[in-house]
Amino acid sequence: MTKTTILALAGAISGLLMAAPAVSAADAMPKVKPHHEKVLTDCGTCHTKENAIGGNAFVVPKDETCIACHGDYKALAKKTEGLDEPNPHSSHHYGAGVSCTACHKEHEKSVVLCNDCHEFKYTIK
Ligand code: HEC
Ligand code: HEC
Ligand code: HEC
Ligand code: HEC
Repeated sequence: MTKTTILALAGAISGLLMAAPAVSAADAMPKVKPHHEKVLTDCGTCHTKENAIGGNAFVVPKDETCIACHGDYKALAKKTEGLDEPNPHSSHHYGAGVSCTACHKEHEKSVVLCNDCHEFKYTIK
């Protein structure tokens, strides 16, 4: 083998090695919730430039992002006022002073913050 062939081969091999992590990175790519799959096909809808910290938009989005589509706490509280459990969008503890993402996660299982202390039966998405 000539030196150039060896270099070319080494290049091809390192190319393959580079390709491998790219595949697993795609697997690890955060997925959106099923209810957002069809409507939020662009990550940038939530991870906006305005939200970016130090040029990185992939940080926890601000509540305004969610509120722009879903309405504010007042509007949300109307939607969840008929539950058997206390209204999660209007508690005497927080009012509107709690972040949506304290409960609604996008890339992992959502949590009901209230249940750190209570045992309410909600079906949160
Ligand atoms: C571009 C508009 C848009 C943005 C931004 C958005 N959503 Fe949604 N979301 C929707 C649509 C449309 C649906 C499906 C229809 C529906 O249930 O309202 C949905 C569904 C949901 C549902 C399920 C509702 C149900 O009854 O099944 C939850 C919970 C939710 N979104 C929370 C959030 C949170 C929290 C954020 C911010 C991190 C957010 N959404 C950002 C448009 C949006
Ligand atoms: C303290 C936890 C908590 C916070 C904070 C919270 N939610 Fe929720 N949300 C819930 C729970 C629990 C439900 C489901 C109640 C049920 O149906 O059992 C719900 C339901 C919803 C739904 C579906 C309503 C429907 O049509 O039935 C939407 C949309 C939603 N939340 C959006 C938001 C947005 C946007 C914010 C921020 C402004 C927010 N939530 C903040 C707990 C929370
Ligand atoms: C509905 C709004 C929404 C959409 C669309 C969305 N994200 Fe997110 N993203 C969030 C929220 C909320 C968090 C905070 C952690 C969580 O809820 O899982 C987050 C967190 C992240 C983080 C981690 C940031 C940190 O500091 O921990 C990354 C990376 C990320 N998202 C990438 C993506 C990519 C890639 C896409 C497109 C495939 C995407 N997101 C689409 C709402 C969204
Ligand atoms: C850190 C613990 C903690 C968390 C988190 C918490 N609570 Fe409570 N909650 C309490 C305690 C303690 C009391 C009794 C004292 C009081 O009324 O504040 C209480 C009382 C209540 C009551 C009865 C109040 C009344 O008028 O008699 C309701 C309803 C309630 N919580 C709803 C919620 C909801 C909804 C959430 C989530 C949005 C939540 N709580 C989150 C600790 C918590």
